[in-house]
Amino acid sequence: MLLTQYEQEMLDGKHGWGKQLGMEINTQLGNIYGAERMIPIQSVHMVNSSVLLSGNAVVDLIEEVVASGAKFAVPVTLNPASIDYENWKELGFAEDIHKRQVRLTKAYQSLGGVPLHSCTPYLGGNIPNYKERVAWGESSAVCYINSVIGARTNRFGGPAGLAAGLTGVVPEFGYYLDENRLGQYLIQVDAEMNEIMDFGLLGYYVGEIVTSGVPVFNGLSGNVSKDGLKMLCAALASSGSVAMFHVVGCTPEAPTLEAAFGGKEPVQVIHYGPEEAKKALDELNKHNGEDVGIVVVGCPHCSLEEIGQVAHMLEGKRIKDGIEFWVEASVPVRALAERAGYTEILTSAGAQIVSDTCPVHCFEKNFLENKQFSSLATNSAKLAHYVPGSCGISTYCGTLEQCVRAALTGRFVEG
Ligand code: F3S
Repeated sequence: MLLTQYEQEMLDGKHGWGKQLGMEINTQLGNIYGAERMIPIQSVHMVNSSVLLSGNAVVDLIEEVVASGAKFAVPVTLNPASIDYENWKELGFAEDIHKRQVRLTKAYQSLGGVPLHSCTPYLGGNIPNYKERVAWGESSAVCYINSVIGARTNRFGGPAGLAAGLTGVVPEFGYYLDENRLGQYLIQVDAEMNEIMDFGLLGYYVGEIVTSGVPVFNGLSGNVSKDGLKMLCAALASSGSVAMFHVVGCTPEAPTLEAAFGGKEPVQVIHYGPEEAKKALDELNKHNGEDVGIVVVGCPHCSLEEIGQVAHMLEGKRIKDGIEFWVEASVPVRALAERAGYTEILTSAGAQIVSDTCPVHCFEKNFLENKQFSSLATNSAKLAHYVPGSCGISTYCGTLEQCVRAALTGRFVEG
């Protein structure tokens, strides 16, 4: 691989152990994927940010990098943690996990990382430009910035993200190259798409079929909100590992069907109508018929508009005793919700805005034993996909309205 003089010096250790480690990872990755050169990136969004998912070895590694005197070369934000920093005690997170999480976050901060601790950094201040090259982890955010913003990234796991942050460069392959961004599968949509959950169902159905391919959605253009796209991204990247898609007439690289495919024919045409939507919904409802113990919305973390919708539905009402209602949002969005008066409405109703984390990053054995949630209700296909397997909780998936009703009554009514 062709390296600039500075990149070679980093690899040779002339700029410290941290950058050397970063270049070793970069060059190995580049060799595996046949990259010809390194390219500069403008930001990193780092996974390996929650101590429960990363483990103690990552805490030790990041502290070792700090001890070497290294600093991040570009702005770096962090994905969710294993606690809500402000309300960890009230929410019932363990002291030991809090301690370990603080250690990990502090280590990243010493390198220059910003503990945004959100999976929607693009709603909280880290917003790439069109065509900007970045190095992001978090599958839903990767899909969002590639597809909706038109920035460029591959899916960066922990070591590759760390290497990108330390060196400011990455090997050029995958979605950095024009030819890999073209559509492959044509998805002809004629289902009703009224709720943001409908976009989750669409993504869940399509992700399973196209796996890591690039789907092109046709028939959606008049009907697409930012929050719907956010749900679509999360679901595509959970049943599959989609990192990029196009919506004809909506996303920046698909002004027309022809542009989305670069003039080529799709490898497969997939029809998505009411029957397919029902199939996806049935797959995601893995519940045991029990009452709901916790309702979670905000996977991916909520926009201000979503919090406003929940506040509107809960105004003047009271959540049933014994039920928790988590509205997940990043710290900046939570601050705006407070100013908009939404937080007061939510807390008066018995709901809470949870920041910095989510069930996938913080539900662990002791926490769940203490809480004894009978089942979970959510409007997120991604959360409904992961929770039964990773947390062992029976899960209902439905519209925001169904979720709010479940919080008020304890019963999730299907249909
Ligand atoms: Fe975000 Fe957690 Fe969902 S990281 S996308 S809220 S599983």
